[in-house]
Order: sequence, then C-alpha cells, then structure tokens
Amino acid sequence: METRKAKRILMSKPTMEGAGVHLKRVFGYYDVPMFDPFLMMDDFRNDDPQKYLRGFPWHPHRGIETITYMLDGSVEHRDSLGNTGVLSGGDVQWMTAGRGIVHQEMPRGNAEGKMLGFQLWANLPASHKMMSPRYQDIPSQQIPEIVTDNGTRVRILCGSVNGVQGPVKDIIIDPEYLDVTVPANSEYLHPTHRDYTVFLYTIGGNGYTGAENETALSNETVVLFEDGDQVRIATEGDPVRFLLISGKPIREPVAWGGPIVMNTREEVQQAFREYEEGSFLK
Ligand code: FE2
Repeated sequence: METRKAKRILMSKPTMEGAGVHLKRVFGYYDVPMFDPFLMMDDFRNDDPQKYLRGFPWHPHRGIETITYMLDGSVEHRDSLGNTGVLSGGDVQWMTAGRGIVHQEMPRGNAEGKMLGFQLWANLPASHKMMSPRYQDIPSQQIPEIVTDNGTRVRILCGSVNGVQGPVKDIIIDPEYLDVTVPANSEYLHPTHRDYTVFLYTIGGNGYTGAENETALSNETVVLFEDGDQVRIATEGDPVRFLLISGKPIREPVAWGGPIVMNTREEVQQAFREYEEGSFLK
C-alpha cells in the first residue's frame, strides 16, 4: 500500500466570475491538464451579498459537467429544458451539460447573508461530449454520512466508503466526491485507484497529509496527489474538514472557451456560432 504524497500544494485565489461574483478559484484554466479529468473548482464562500448576488445569468455549457455542492445559503437554478430548482443546506447537483444546456445560477445568502458552496467542473471525453444533457439533483437527506471508529465523518456524495455508496451514479470519469471531517488527534485513510487523479481542498481546521505528515493543511489549502493506493490525512490539536475528489484521467486535448470545453478550437468556435445563431440546443 503506497500512501500518496502531495505533488502540488496550492492555495485558492480570489477572482471574479459571472456578472460580478467574487469567489476563490481552487484551480482552473491555467492548471490544465494537471487535474485531468477535472477542469476547475470554485469556492463561493462569502459573507457579503453585494459580492455574489449578481450571480451567473443565462450562459451555455457544452462538453463538461458542473457539480454544485451547497452547504449554506442557496443557489436558484433555471435552464433551457424548463428545469428549475433551489440547492441549499448540503444538496448536490451533478449536471452533465453534454451537447448543450443554457442555464442561470443565482446565489442567495442565508439569514445572515452568508454563502458557503463549491462548484467543480469535470471534463467529458470526446466520446461523450455530445451526449444528452442530464441532471442528478440530490437533496441533502439522500447523501449518506458514515462515522468511522475514531469519529471521522464522511458524507458520500459520489463513490463508496466502507461499503456505503453515494447517490450520484454512472458518471463517465468514475469519480468520488467526499466531504470529510477528521476530529483532533486522529487519522483517516481512504483507498484510491492507483492511477486516478486525486486532490483535496481544505474547508476548515488544520491537519496533515502524506505518510509522515509531510504536508500541512490549513483552510483553503489545495493538494494534488501523486499516484498511489491510498490517501492519509492526520490531525493533531484541531479537527480538519476537506473535500476529497478523485476521477479517471481522460488524457485528451483540451480546447477551452469560457463555459464550453471541447477537444479542438474548431469545435469551440462551432459551439459559439451555434449559440449566436440559435441552433445551440439540439
Ligand atoms: Fe453554469
């Protein structure tokens, strides 16, 4: 059993997106293809509604999946298929844009004006970029949480832990998405496919990762791991909470044009041309 070591250690960085939403970018455009099959992750934590209320008005997606996980506050979602819904309080939405969807995502704070949520973008292989769009909308109550012997809590959005399977299923890149809280003075081990991409993003507390605590974790630390059979996270005096995400690398060329990610520039240009001409939605 080889314990994965940190390959890259980053901190999320402030940026602006949508119609003027201040957020923290965990990784993105300039990191391709390091996180393959993942393209981008954003951290929407904010205490000031003026910094997020303008939201993400109508925009298209093609060739990717967007995964929204809301812990506090909410996001109202509407799309070109007539779907509408609100994500909040631990809900997850795994949206496969496939050949095309046009949607808007409008954040709202909780009673104190706070927002706590994350959006991950996963790539689709050439064979599935033009698949039919689909959603897996999972309310918080349907997300299992297991507690290990030492009190580690694991919410399983996707993947499996100790034989318990998360509700998001049949995703092309065979991902796992776990929300893990390790109590103080404890250790958590999680097996991984040897050559899958695995990263974690710390959302609170302090801890370590690596076989011998080589890498320190504090809030907003991003760790991309080397290949290996398991990840290990350990704590001393504080608990640590992190999102642990893995997937099977796609290893194809990436042509990225804003919300549209294809294999070639021509495919991206065609998508924008179709969007302008009104033939984007099939
Ligand atoms: Fe979007």
